Amino acid sequence: MCGIVGYVGDKSVCEVLTGGLSALEYRGYDSSGVAVIADNETKIYKAEGKLQNLKDLLAEKQNEVKTARVGIGHIRWATHGIPNEINAHPHTNNDGKLAVVHNGIIENYKELRAKLEQQGAIFHSETDTETVAHLVSQKYNETHDLKEAVRLATKELEGAYALCIIHKDVKDTIIATRRNAPLLIGLGEGENFAASDVPAIIEHTKRAIYLDDNEIAVLTPNSVDVYDSDNNKINPKVELLPWEPITLSKMGYKHFMLKEIHEQPDVIRNFLSGKLHTADSKAILNEVKLDKESLKNLNRIQVVACGTSLHAAIVGKYIIEELCNIPVDVEASSEYIYRTTVTDEHTLVIGVSQSGETADTLTAVKQSKARGSHILIITNRPDSAMAREADSLIPVDAGIEVSVAATKSYVAQLMAFYMLAIHLAEIKGSADENYLKEIKNELLVLPQKIELLLTKKEKIQKCSRMYSSSKNFIFIARGINFATALEGALKLKEISYINATGYPAGELKHGPIAMLDETLPVLSIMMTGKVYEKILSNAQESKARNARMIALTDSTDEKLEDLFDYVLNVPHVHELISPMMAIVPLQLLAYYIAEFLGKDVDQPRNLAKSVTVE
Ligand code: F6R
Repeated sequence: MCGIVGYVGDKSVCEVLTGGLSALEYRGYDSSGVAVIADNETKIYKAEGKLQNLKDLLAEKQNEVKTARVGIGHIRWATHGIPNEINAHPHTNNDGKLAVVHNGIIENYKELRAKLEQQGAIFHSETDTETVAHLVSQKYNETHDLKEAVRLATKELEGAYALCIIHKDVKDTIIATRRNAPLLIGLGEGENFAASDVPAIIEHTKRAIYLDDNEIAVLTPNSVDVYDSDNNKINPKVELLPWEPITLSKMGYKHFMLKEIHEQPDVIRNFLSGKLHTADSKAILNEVKLDKESLKNLNRIQVVACGTSLHAAIVGKYIIEELCNIPVDVEASSEYIYRTTVTDEHTLVIGVSQSGETADTLTAVKQSKARGSHILIITNRPDSAMAREADSLIPVDAGIEVSVAATKSYVAQLMAFYMLAIHLAEIKGSADENYLKEIKNELLVLPQKIELLLTKKEKIQKCSRMYSSSKNFIFIARGINFATALEGALKLKEISYINATGYPAGELKHGPIAMLDETLPVLSIMMTGKVYEKILSNAQESKARNARMIALTDSTDEKLEDLFDYVLNVPHVHELISPMMAIVPLQLLAYYIAEFLGKDVDQPRNLAKSVTVE
């Protein structure tokens, strides 16, 4: 998390920096800052809160910064120290000549700070980053060479970093380097850029260098030189970025989240195109690079993911086990990486990630790769760090998801699991052909059914208003929709800040039932199929404890109106496909509750879209 940008050239430095930071707001948005060298002085401007506060500040100070030709900027997601102006980046050294922006975590910052303080460094913030400013400054005083100072300083750093550094005495120059945090260098004509991610620079250039771990780049307006950690100059690969500059627009929707929910039918169509023509044709998934024999002989799949992607993985487990008869283990990446696991070269490991950058999932994938497993990555960012680790890569092509709460990327990830499972089942011959045909047919008609649901949002809106004052929510489900309960609860928590829990309905009586009373809404996800009657019984148990009863169902049984206070109907779908349908009203429920409560829907507090710290 955190986004960094650097610019050296003739354009208005602050405009380029803040424009870049706007495109990186998904990486954090609790404070921001820039440093420029203007009038032979290093000038630093910072603001707490949203980026707009920094833009307003810079508009006031435009006369002070207009001669700048070099600058660095940062947008923060706080790790060390609360989000305030002091802890916001850039950070500087004692004489204020040097400025640094950083994404990542310096794990040994306490020891370094203690040592530097003894040697006279004066710290102002609680951040780990300020250590880097003082350490590089110390090395610079010894060497009088900024690149060498950065090289020597980074040798003492433990942890992850992407860094951009400027110094008043080193004219029109940025030193940029990284280890286990993303950083790319954009190449222009008479100008050059550094940034955490492509959107920050794509408006200016399509040519870029992805720095490797420990490489150091020296940027001036007319040159970019890259060195390895032993100071050898190297010839880095220049890549053409497969991106078009796009203006992200809400297209008339009040929030990006609402727009992205409405894009879901097209995301499904897009995913299916080229992969599934008709219910009679076979699934085409050339992205899977394992040969047929290896696929037939697969005896275990391990999926690693976090948050919403983890919920997609749980649905994936149900689908693959149902159609392919292969055991699938799903684990939160953050748990998987700190225990002894038995994943080896006989296991297919699937990493699922919208951003392709989530640090825990990236580490899990790297660990499994080192143990010889074939790595399949399902991601919305085929240019990401995780994608670069992949042996097989399924891009989900959901388009840029701006809202921090994942919606369309979730259904796209589910689509990847459906197609993977169908593909595997067809190779293995593990599922009845007519059954597979029915599932394929259901997938092909699903976009229209979701569109139909999206034309009837009033009932969900009304439900949201009725329940928006609740302090707690329980979502219950069974079978394949257990993950839908988890995801529905997560959506509600993250954007409305209402405490919500997803439970397997059968577990309710093993403890949580004690919480039920007339204040607590219990939302039962009751999609028709194998577990429908079972969950109906669990709902009865909640009713007997006076809970406020909401049903989400594709059943047309009128008797449900007697049992439930509120029934949210969705078009009927096959049980195996039902998570795709059931999640949509839950996304909308969370959206309307948050909107009704006046929350910042697209940028909820304390969150970031890309979680690059473990
Ligand atoms: C919730 C949400 C997060 C992410 C999680 C993993 O709406 O977006 O829970 O799903 O941080 O991120 P990715 O998928 O980028 O690995």
